[in-house]
Order: sequence, then C-alpha cells, then structure tokens
Amino acid sequence: GTRHPSIPLPKDLMGAWGNSEGIDLAEREVLREVARAIAAAPLPLAGGVGGGPVSTPLLAATPTPNPSRKREGDEVAQAIARAHAAFPAWSATPVETRAAILERYADLLEANRTELMAYAVREAFKTIPDALGEIREAADFCRYYAVQARGILAPRILPGPTGERNELRMMGRGVWATIAPWNFPLAIFTGQNAAALVAGNTGVAKPAPQTPGIAARAVELAHEAGVPRDALVLVTGGAEAGAALTGDPRIAGVAFTGSTATAKAIARSLLEDDNRPIVPLIAETGGINAMIVDSTALPEQVVADVIASAFRSAGQRCSALRLLIVQEEVAETILTMLRGAMELLVVGDPGDPRTDVGPVIDDAAYDRLMAYRESVKGRWIKTVLVPATGRFVPPTAIRLDDLDDLQQEWFGPLLHVATWRAGELTATIERVNAKRFGLTMGLHSRIARSAEIAETTAKVGNLYINRSMIGAVVGSQPFGGEGLSGTGPKAGGPNYLPRFCVERAVSVDT
Ligand code: NAD
Ligand code: ALA
Repeated sequence: GTRHPSIPLPKDLMGAWGNSEGIDLAEREVLREVARAIAAAPLPLAGGVGGGPVSTPLLAATPTPNPSRKREGDEVAQAIARAHAAFPAWSATPVETRAAILERYADLLEANRTELMAYAVREAFKTIPDALGEIREAADFCRYYAVQARGILAPRILPGPTGERNELRMMGRGVWATIAPWNFPLAIFTGQNAAALVAGNTGVAKPAPQTPGIAARAVELAHEAGVPRDALVLVTGGAEAGAALTGDPRIAGVAFTGSTATAKAIARSLLEDDNRPIVPLIAETGGINAMIVDSTALPEQVVADVIASAFRSAGQRCSALRLLIVQEEVAETILTMLRGAMELLVVGDPGDPRTDVGPVIDDAAYDRLMAYRESVKGRWIKTVLVPATGRFVPPTAIRLDDLDDLQQEWFGPLLHVATWRAGELTATIERVNAKRFGLTMGLHSRIARSAEIAETTAKVGNLYINRSMIGAVVGSQPFGGEGLSGTGPKAGGPNYLPRFCVERAVSVDT
C-alpha cells in the first residue's frame, strides 16, 4: 500500500477517485482517532483477543437472522417487497441526482472514517492500514461509479440511415441482490451497492454474517446521503438468507463476491425455476494466485512484494499470493531473504498500528488453516512466532516438490513455494493456468520478452509485473478474474455499470 502514497493524482485524469491504496501511515492523527474510537467502543477487541458482535441502530431494527428457514425467508421476502416497491421512483430519478447522492455518500464515508475503521478492526480484525484502505476504496467506488454513470448512462442518440430518431437508453433492471464477503466488509459491500443504485436499480444487500455491523452503518450513511430507505434494504444472515434472496423470482440481478462454491450454488439457483426471467450474475471469487520469479529479478523487491502479497491482511485477500515459483538458480537466495523478512513480521492485535498481521476471521477458518498447516509440517520453510492466545495463524512458507501439488485456495497467511527451470516460462505459466482459476498473477523479471510472454500467456484478470499482487486501485486497475475466479465485468472498471442495466432502443419516426 505504499507505492503511490505521496503522488497526488491529477484530478482531470482520475476524476475525484484514485486514492484506494494511497495509505500513508504518516497520517498520525487518523491513527490516534481510530485508537481512541477502538478504546471507547463498548466491546472488547475481537479476533482471538475477546470480542463479539458490534451493533448499530439499523442492525437493531433489522430482524435477527432466525434459525428457522421459513422465518428467515419471510424477512428476506419483505425486504425484496420494499425494494421492489421503491424501484419505479428510484429508476425514474435522473442519473445526475443518483450520481450526486453517491458523491455525498463518499463524503459521508470519509467523514465517518474513524467509526467505520473501528468497526473494520473489531468485526473483521483488519489492521489499521487495511481499515483505512477500506474507507478509501469504498469512497473511490462511489466517486468512480458516479463519474462513470454520468458518461455511460446518459441517453444516446444514435446516428444512422433510417431517417428516424433512434435513442439508446440504459435503464435499471429492478431489484439487485448484493452479497458480500467479510474480507472487504466495507469496500466490496459499498462497491456493489453503489453500482446497483447509480445504474437505477434498488437493492437488497446481504453482508457476510461475520460483518453485519459495518454493513449496517454503511447502509445508514447511504440513507443519510439521500438514497431512499427502501431503495437499499439490509438483510442479515448467512447462507440461508443468501439462498432465500437469490431464489426469489423478483430479483433482477445478483452481484456476488465470495467463494467459487457459493457462486456456483447461486448460478444454479437462478436457473432452477423455469418461469423465472434470465438474470445476470456478476460473481467475483477466489484464486490460486502465483508469482513467478526469474534470475534477473531484484531480490529485495521480490521479497518485499512477496511479504505484502502473501501475508498482509493475514492472507485473507482474494488477490493474495498463494504460490511463489522461483527459478531454481536463485531459489536459495530468495528463500534466505524471505526467511529473514518473515522474521520481522509483527503478528498480533489488529488495533495496534505496529501490527502487520492480525488474526483470521473466525474459529472455523482458524481450525481449517491450522489443521492443513500441521499436515504439511515436514515441508515448512519458515514459520513465525505468534501470541499464545487468539486466532493467530502463524505466517508460514511451505515447500512444494511440484507446483501441481497445490490445487485449492487456502485463505490465510500460508505461502507455498515451488521452483521452475530456465527456459520453461511459458510452460510454467500454462501449468498455473491449468489450475483453472484466473484472478491475479505476478512476474518478477527484468527481461522484456518474459513480460511479453506473461502478458500473452497468463489467463488471469489482473497481471502484476515487478510489483506486489494486491491493492488494485479503483479506476486504474479494474479488478476481477476469469475461469473459476469469476464472471467479470471487473469492479472499478469502465465495463462494470452496464451489466447492471437493461438497454432499451427507442425509435421514433419523425
Ligand atoms: P462465502 O462464499 O462463504 O460467502 C460470501 C457471501 O455469500 C456471504 O455473504 C455468505 O453469507 C453468502 N452465501 C453463502 N452461501 C450462500 C448461498 N447458498 N446463496 C447465497 N449467498 C450465500 O465466502 P467468504 O468465506 O465470505 O469469503 C472468502 C472467499 O471470497 C474467498 O474464496 C475469496 O477468494 C473470495 N473473495 C473474492 C473476491 C474477488 O473480488 N474476486 C474478493 C474477496 C473475497
Ligand atoms: N481488490 C483487492 C486487491 O486488489 C482484492 O487486493
């Protein structure tokens, strides 16, 4: 997150966004404010050092998820009914008004950043730099989609030989279901909702069950910014609430970010009812993200980028590096330096500004990751000491005999390391492609031809050359994968909003 911290982006080039990853830890006043907010909050810090759910008035007013499938389904059905009734008025609201509301929303997110960051630290166990990144990315999404909407969604008169007046209109589709994961509980949640709303849809938003508090606060701020209450309705709960939402025939589209398995379950549910209209699904899922390093790479830069990509956010980013593939000749040098750099990682309380790696999200994730880590104990290259109590998965590098040995995403601070032979770059990239995910890939090389090979061979949504693999910047680095990693279009890119719309061509004989 320190690549562009002090370079102000020209406003005319960027619009008013572009600060997603410009986290500058010198912002000491923010850190002090956040520390005060965390200290003042009524609950102990969670994430393996105590803690529990965080509440807001909206959350208190939202029916608690109920174990009974029927009751939960009723709550979701009521939310859809409200959003359905709100659709005609909201979709008829001029694009300019909707865009201005999003910009006000961005301002409110920033104005309330201390409180929102405290939520991110308490509920999702984000470190303070990551929590600040959440606010910035959320605000960036709002501002970027507002600017995009003004350009893309304005009615267009189309030229042609017909002698008629031909107009193309981009309209909202109806009620979107937006379903978010816990690992970007504000940024992704807000991005999905902002896009759906500015495109003229209403939305029923379901955050992950681990992070309802920050989501409820985000929805309250959207309402404060001018989004009508029923145009964006929050529902809480987990898989059952999500399934009730996507299974409802009134849903006109689904924006989902989470695991590949859930994306497939949603795709199936959208096709179940033969009488239901065909509706779009935007799914952003996981990956087995690889970085390939050759013997011309700068070792210090490689190691810094590996540490950030694999261990920042406790490895709980979909973009995170899972598989480091180093050219044989430099493997020992790189690994020696990597061991040294891992030694410096500070694992602990995410509310402490010095912490690099916090706890993982919940007991289930902790148990899964620790059991796997234990099962490959004989292959550890390096692991790191962590506090004795709490859900701290020790950052660990694990040696593989063969890069094909890794066939699933481990969503935590576990890095696998394999080697490749000189002359086999294309074949190595193709073997990564063969895993059928396609989210991020990295290459560290100073050979121009190798960069060209990666650009033409890698089947990934985001290819990063000679840099880290995390922290895509809204508007500049549209984010999202292909294959098992997602459907596209990319969040924070110019093709995202149109997927939320129907196109209507109106022709008038003049
Ligand atoms: P998950 O799939 O378990 O849950 C995501 C959301 O889907 C949650 O809100 C959950 O309640 C809901 N859900 C679960 N079952 C459902 C169902 N049957 N129908 C409808 N909704 C349902 O994922 P997670 O564990 O919360 O998140 C981690 C995963 O997300 C990782 O695989 C990660 O790679 C991926 N991810 C991808 C991106 C991206 O942009 N590509 C970003 C962040 C996370
Ligand atoms: N957009 C997030 C990143 O690039 C997932 O790290």
